[in-house]
Amino acid sequence: MAGEAGEIPCALVVMGVSGSGKSTIADRLAARLSWSYEDGDRFHPASNVAKMSAGHPLTDEDRWPWLQAIADEIDRVCKAGEHAVIACSALKRAYRTILVHGRSDVRIVFLKGTQPLIAQRLAERKDHFMPPGLLDSQFKTLEPPEAGENPITVSIDASVESIVDDIVRQLGLDPADGARPSRNRA
Ligand SMILES: Nc1ncnc2c1ncn2[C@@H]1O[C@H](COP(=O)(O)OP(=O)(O)OP(=O)(O)O)[C@@H](O)[C@H]1O
Ligand SMILES: [Mg+2]
Repeated sequence: MAGEAGEIPCALVVMGVSGSGKSTIADRLAARLSWSYEDGDRFHPASNVAKMSAGHPLTDEDRWPWLQAIADEIDRVCKAGEHAVIACSALKRAYRTILVHGRSDVRIVFLKGTQPLIAQRLAERKDHFMPPGLLDSQFKTLEPPEAGENPITVSIDASVESIVDDIVRQLGLDPADGARPSRNRA
């Protein structure tokens, strides 16, 4: 059944606005669970990469093949009996519908934080250039996941390790040994 307690997902999609901590949290979560980590950005077709490098924003038409490529990777991982944590902003419900495509073994992890906190983290981030106004537009675009999407929502106003603990606990996995269910299943 969808999202049944104790079901171990084959893929987690870690979503949120730019600077919410997707790469940081997805990487640490994958390490904790001994799952693989993937950055969703690497699935962009070359045409999108060229467009972004030229400083042009992507349209939703540009995004569909990218999201479908991530969905295909999710299917591959699950079919192979593997497990992955994928960082992908997935701000709109329609994007997440493509990524999850009705699978109960794919869960959304929503990194929830206030705009001032995220702005501060972006300002402190050294290796990225952030165009002014980007965070505003990200918050305008964001459609937080609804209950029907069965998301795991975590507050990002905490240390990386305690955010990872929170996600592992909400997944019903053992925080000390993330790959194992924390309770026996019938
Ligand atoms: N829980 C946390 N506490 C303190 N700093 C954090 C935390 N999580 C992430 N950071 C820092 O915040 C900044 C943004 O994090 P990160 O790059 O992972 O975000 P992102 O969502 O992947 O952004 P983008 O969408 O631009 O790729 C980084 O400098 C990171 O080290
Ligand atoms: Mg990132």
